[in-house]
Amino acid sequence: MDNIISYLRGHREEYLNKVKDIVAIPSVSSDPERKDEIIRCAKHLKNDMADAGLENLELKETPGNPIVYGDWLHADGAPTILIYGHYDVQPEDPVDLWNTPPFEATKVDDRLYGRGVIDDKGQLYIHLAALKAWFESEGELPLNVKVIFEGEEEIGSKHLDDFLKENKDMLAADCVVVSDTGMFAKGVPSITYGLRGLAYFQLDVEGPDGDLHSGSFGGPVDNPANVLVRMLAKLKDENGRIAIPGFYEDVEELTEEERENFAQLPFDEEEFRKESVGAPGLAKDDEFTVLEQLWCRPTLDINGLYSGFTGEGAKTVIPAKAMAKVSMRLVPYQDPEKIGDLFEEYIREITPDTVNVKITRMHGGYYFLSDVNEPMFEAARESVQRAFNKETALIREGGSIPFVHSITNILNSPAILLGFGLPDENAHAPNEWMDLDNFYLGMESIAYLYDEIAKRT
Ligand code: BES
Ligand code: MN
Ligand code: MN
Repeated sequence: MDNIISYLRGHREEYLNKVKDIVAIPSVSSDPERKDEIIRCAKHLKNDMADAGLENLELKETPGNPIVYGDWLHADGAPTILIYGHYDVQPEDPVDLWNTPPFEATKVDDRLYGRGVIDDKGQLYIHLAALKAWFESEGELPLNVKVIFEGEEEIGSKHLDDFLKENKDMLAADCVVVSDTGMFAKGVPSITYGLRGLAYFQLDVEGPDGDLHSGSFGGPVDNPANVLVRMLAKLKDENGRIAIPGFYEDVEELTEEERENFAQLPFDEEEFRKESVGAPGLAKDDEFTVLEQLWCRPTLDINGLYSGFTGEGAKTVIPAKAMAKVSMRLVPYQDPEKIGDLFEEYIREITPDTVNVKITRMHGGYYFLSDVNEPMFEAARESVQRAFNKETALIREGGSIPFVHSITNILNSPAILLGFGLPDENAHAPNEWMDLDNFYLGMESIAYLYDEIAKRT
């Protein structure tokens, strides 16, 4: 391994520049006007994958954005891993809050700033660097590798499930490796064994044919904005309990063992409130700690609200329409489809006959939960320990990656979520950054991972 590690240490600058180059392509998947950038990014990535030593490169078309595929399958008798990541990124807005241009990755001390640096472009290049280092130092890999990088993760991976089902044989692998999660804290390399799922909806409340004078019509006309907030208020009680009947039916109880493990992690709730959140207080929960709430409990959040007059000054108007975006983070073993049905049923039930409510189901995705005794975890743990020289934490995360549940079910293979982000790196927000120590040690971890997995089979 020494040659591989020195190769990586000697080529840090080169890989940093490669990340800068791909960050310069604004592959924002939610913006239809940037479809060309998505394609440009996929092609650029394909070239860099070829440069890293992968073969059979292809842009696999889907009804949406292409999936970039490459492999190296010459380790006869050795196991095969499937590496996943996403090359699409979140929008850069609000752009005026960035201190450096979002698509011009900028190094400041030991940080790289730019949209997608950590979610997930930097993490893709951790894998490409590790592959390249193996090829350049050893001329081969100790195992077989298949790579898929998708372009629709940030918009719910809509076309991925069909692709996975249709290409089951092509993707077959003994283990799935994903670097799209984070570390518990700086200096605490982490393996993620659980993710939350997601169910996302838009509600459109429609009342009168058009906006009305609130003096001439106020009273007998039920105001869609009032109706909407009344309905939203019925979704969750003061204690944070979600009021949709049947919502908690499939929620798994936490085990004492897991609670004890969480309690041992270096986490301070007051510091979290002050430093990470910055709010005067946190939503009270008598039953669960903050980490338990973040990782193991479902949520219901209003993500956006819009109605009526929001400009300067006052306008006496009854708006014709009101809109809300509402999403729920789901946990094992909640099914997003079933939750969608329960949500719709409840919304119908609480809709007064003075308005029409349109419910649009937006994206969703399943939770992920892995058995921590899975033998591949040992390989991952050993790899990060070799690179970081630190104990590894086993954690869950509150975010979602729909791919993970899908692929593990389709292939019936375990997944290792080995990511190198930090909780305060501003993913999805202005001034997203990547810690360069983690970037470089991440490369070494992944290089060791190939060795550790190969050793065990
Ligand atoms: N990389 C994140 C998922 C993530 C977030 C993992 C936080 C661990 C901690 C991913 O790119 C993401 O943002 N996922 C979306 C999924 C959604 C669009 C279906 C999310 O969690 O909102
Ligand atoms: Mn991501
Ligand atoms: Mn993301």
